[in-house]
Amino acid sequence: MLLKDQTAIVTGAARGVAKGVATAFVKAGASVLIVDREAELGKATCAELAEFGPVHFMAVDLADRDALPGIIDEALARFGRLDTLVNAAQASAQVMLADMSIAAMNIAFDTGFWPTFLLMKAAFPHLVKSQGSVINFGSGAGIEGMATQASYGAAKEAIRSLSKTAAVEWGEHGVRVNVICPFALSPGVEQWRMQFPEAFEGQIAKVPMRRIGDPERDIGASAVYLASHLAAYVTGTTLMVDGGQTRRF
Ligand SMILES: NC(=O)c1ccc[n+]([C@@H]2O[C@H](COP(=O)([O-])OP(=O)(O)OC[C@H]3O[C@@H](n4cnc5c(N)ncnc54)[C@H](O)[C@@H]3O)[C@@H](O)[C@H]2O)c1
Repeated sequence: MLLKDQTAIVTGAARGVAKGVATAFVKAGASVLIVDREAELGKATCAELAEFGPVHFMAVDLADRDALPGIIDEALARFGRLDTLVNAAQASAQVMLADMSIAAMNIAFDTGFWPTFLLMKAAFPHLVKSQGSVINFGSGAGIEGMATQASYGAAKEAIRSLSKTAAVEWGEHGVRVNVICPFALSPGVEQWRMQFPEAFEGQIAKVPMRRIGDPERDIGASAVYLASHLAAYVTGTTLMVDGGQTRRF
C-alpha cells in the first residue's frame, strides 16, 4: 500500500497504459479520478476498479481547454487533496512528414501537450500543499524519431522538455516532476499491430527483454514508485519502462 491515503488524477485512463496506471494506483491504496473522453469505456473501467478502492470517472475531452480547471476542482471535491497528477492522454495522426498538415500536427498538441501544461499549472498549488508530484508520458518515438510520428514525437518531446523545466522550478517547493516512456500492449498499440503487423513483430524482436510490457504490472508499478515516498529524491528524470527497446532503435 505504497500510496495509502493518497489521491491521483490519471488522464487517458479509460483504457490502455493509463488504465494500468490507475489500476496499480488504486491497488496501492490511492483514490483515483480517471479522466477520458470515452464516456462508456471510462465508466466501465471505473466499475471494474471499484472493488479495489475509491475511484471516480469524469468524461472530458482534454482538447477543450475551458474544461481543464474543472478536473482539478472535481478531484479536490471528491477526495479533498491532490498528491499525483498523471498526464497520459494522447491522440495523434500518423502521417508522413511531407504530407503533414497543421491541423494534423495540432491533434497531438491539443490532446497531449496543452492539457499537460494547463493541468500542471492548475494542479501546482495543490501539489505544493501535498508535496506531491507529476508524472507525464513521453515516448521513445519522440526521443529517437520514427516514420509517421512527427506530430506525436514533437508533442511528446515538448512534454518532456516542459517536465524538465517544471522539475527545476518546482523542486524548491517540494513538487517532483518525472516522465515515463513506456512500451506496453494497449488498444492503441494493438491497432498499430493490426495496421502494420510486420513493423510490430520487428519491434518486438528488437526489444532486449523480448516481450511487450504490461500496462499494470510494468508501467503501473513504475508509476506507483515515482508517486511514492520511495522516489522522494527523484525529479526531472525520464524513466524508460520499455524492456530496453530504445537502446535498440
Ligand atoms: N503503449 C505504448 O507502448 C506507448 C509507447 C510510448 C508512449 N506511450 C504513451 O503512453 C500513454 C498511453 O498510451 P496508450 O498506448 O495506452 O494509448 P491509447 O491510445 O491506447 O489510449 C489513450 C487514451 O487517451 C484518451 N484520450 C485521447 N485523447 C483524449 C482527449 N482529447 N481527451 C480525453 N482523453 C483522450 C483515449 O480515449 C484513450 O483512452 C500515451 O501518452 C502514449 O503516448 C505509450
